[in-house]
Amino acid sequence: MKLLITGGAGFIGSNFIRYWTSNHPDDEIVNFDKLTYAGNLENLKGIEKNKKYSFIQGDISSIEQVTKAMDGADIVVNFAAETHVDRSILEPAPFIITNVAGTQILLDVALKFEIKRFMHISTDEVFGSLELEDTNKFNERTNYNPASPYSASKAGSDHLVRSYYHTYGLPINISNCSNNFGPYQFPEKLIPLAITNILEGKKVPVYGDGLYVRDWLYVEDHCRAIDLILQKGRIGETYCIGGVAEEINNLSVIKKILNILEKDESSIEYVKDRPGHDRKYSVDWSKIKNELGWSPLHGLDEWLTQTINWYKDNQDWWKRVKNKDYLKYYKKQYGTV
Ligand code: NAD
Ligand code: TYD
Repeated sequence: MKLLITGGAGFIGSNFIRYWTSNHPDDEIVNFDKLTYAGNLENLKGIEKNKKYSFIQGDISSIEQVTKAMDGADIVVNFAAETHVDRSILEPAPFIITNVAGTQILLDVALKFEIKRFMHISTDEVFGSLELEDTNKFNERTNYNPASPYSASKAGSDHLVRSYYHTYGLPINISNCSNNFGPYQFPEKLIPLAITNILEGKKVPVYGDGLYVRDWLYVEDHCRAIDLILQKGRIGETYCIGGVAEEINNLSVIKKILNILEKDESSIEYVKDRPGHDRKYSVDWSKIKNELGWSPLHGLDEWLTQTINWYKDNQDWWKRVKNKDYLKYYKKQYGTV
């Protein structure tokens, strides 16, 4: 089996390639990635020696590059995207070009090559926001109601993927998962930003009142879910994937991190809120549990400790990632470095 992994040099894509090469060693993997600021071949250190693995630098919005890369593939797993909400607020255009137009090009080429399975990785953010007091969760039947340019672009891509199934019979699956965390996550997202700032002796910026709730999913649990969908998922179906938690707000997550790192709460700094900030995400993952037998392996505390240890042990990795461009972005976003 030959898999084309798009966005495989990013956070989840690189974790997925590591996961797949150790669990399906006979499969061939082509990693197709533009290497934007978020793409980093250091995330795949060691994997490049594997003879079944190859890397192609390219852009999903180039039909020529995608056609070359997809030729001979059986399965496409699409992780490639612009992914950070705050950057989508600063500059929406790349989100539309990559997430919407790029996905449509992947779909066209997948049709041409009669790809056996097109797996599209999406987000729970397409459903919009829940109220704090809501007891209902997002599921596969929840209406789309995206609020940020990022989530709107992901919603657009999901609609296109589904339309290629209904219109042309392309064998697709979509997964809508909650916020991931774990090794190799770019430190613009809350958890790696908090861990690395604390390790550097800096403050952790908390937006607004900090009482925003996310449904934290460990990246390896996510990779196992995608594996099950590829092996046993019904064609044309969407699967929601959620995390281990107990509903927990950002302040509590940061306090847990401070506690594990034996630091006090003076590192917390309240900053201006994000415009259009979704209050709460919470995912009902009973469909993937009942149909495919998936559930997360551990709870938040255990996965968080493991993640913090990884950032403690891999300071060279994130110190290189927090480079001049990163600091420029940080200054623009937070006003300080
Ligand atoms: P990431 O930002 O870490 O990595 C994205 C990767 O895509 C990078 O390697 C980048 O170079 C590549 N890329 C960007 N534009 C490209 C283009 N035009 N052509 C080819 N490659 C391109 O993202 P991530 O956190 O690993 O997310 C992966 C996928 O999972 C995304 O589709 C995202 O929407 C989805 N998702 C992420 C989360 C999360 O919490 N991280 C949650 C739900 C869904
Ligand atoms: P983030 O990691 O950007 O993921 P998303 O916006 O896709 O959910 O943010 C997670 C939560 O943390 C969200 O409620 C915004 C908040 N947040 C902060 O409070 N401070 C920060 O510096 C960042 C990056 C996020």
